[in-house]
Amino acid sequence: MEAKSSLIEAFRGVRQDRPPVWFMRQAGRYLPEYRELRKRYSMMTMIRSPELACKVTLQPLERFDLDGAIIYADILNPLIGMGIELDFVEGEGPKIFNPITCAEDVEQLKIPELEENVGYTLEAIRLVKAELLTRNIPVIGFAGAPFTLCCYIIEQGGAGKNFAQVKKFATLHPEAWHQMNSKLVAMLTQYLIGQAEAGVGALQIFDSWVGVLSPLEFATWVKPYLIKLIASIRRSTDVPLCYFGTNTAGLFSSFADLDVNVIGVDWRIRLNEAKSLLNRNFALQGNLDPTLLVSGGPLLKTSVEQILIDSQGSAAHIFNVGHGFSPDVKIENVEQVIKLVKK
Ligand code: CP3
Repeated sequence: MEAKSSLIEAFRGVRQDRPPVWFMRQAGRYLPEYRELRKRYSMMTMIRSPELACKVTLQPLERFDLDGAIIYADILNPLIGMGIELDFVEGEGPKIFNPITCAEDVEQLKIPELEENVGYTLEAIRLVKAELLTRNIPVIGFAGAPFTLCCYIIEQGGAGKNFAQVKKFATLHPEAWHQMNSKLVAMLTQYLIGQAEAGVGALQIFDSWVGVLSPLEFATWVKPYLIKLIASIRRSTDVPLCYFGTNTAGLFSSFADLDVNVIGVDWRIRLNEAKSLLNRNFALQGNLDPTLLVSGGPLLKTSVEQILIDSQGSAAHIFNVGHGFSPDVKIENVEQVIKLVKK
């Protein structure tokens, strides 16, 4: 029997005396030790090597007093086994070389065998878990949500887009949309259950771009697949689940019947307002504006304090940023935030 960790307790909805803290993209280019490794290896090389992925996952935990480790991988690499060709281009982000443009392309998508596709990440999870056992720090597993993956497969993803092409595809090819999402759900179900079996303490589903949808679009094009994915995971594991998106305040009332434990909240709304719109006792994760970790300044401290006050009404709170760290985040600002949360 493993000892309870504060992060997993909070994920399960049990309020902690002080909120556990971890950060989306806590491993990455803002860390000099990460940049050092990246000079020698490509991102895919590091993801595919369990030893390197383990090393990168642990880098932020060697520097900061964090309550969780998130496994080093990406939401996109599991698509490779489905037949999507991609790479992470330095300074530009991910690039998909064979985007889906028509119904015939969807026919070609494969449902890959788990070990063959992402066995390297499952092995990395086992390595990280062994390293962290004595410190009682859990490993967080993750995957992209079907909709956000469609944004990449059809339209190359990216912040600030309205994803008109994705909406057009769902409108013009409803059967192909259904088939693509069903194949994604099949891949993701195996992948997330595989991560639970490899030992993660919690799973986060990243639906970064879902906030471009109206409630009706969400209900029609997205929610059925999310519900299916979540139900399939629930049937085989009881690890707690977090559903994360950005720009989601307008969708919060649509989230109430998602069977997850935690909702990720971005910085555009206060946590107490998020709680009342969600209208269910989810644990809340968030919601510091990550750009404040670039700029620092008086608003950084005030924002942390406000989040700690606003979270007092929620079932439980996990302190995090409202979206991932960018490469220009300053290490001293990260240290300051952790200190403030732990005080
Ligand atoms: O520390 C961690 O959070 C764990 C690993 C992780 C990465 N990507 C590593 C990564 C996680 C959880 C992700 C999720 C991810 N990837 C999302 C969902 C979260 C979000 O930010 O909305 C999305 C949309 C992606 C797709 C993706 N991968 C983008 C847009 C980029 C480029 C942005 C950038 O910072 O360059 C990536 C590349 C990427 N994924 C990096 C890292 C550490 C930087 C790559 C490098 O080393 O060159």
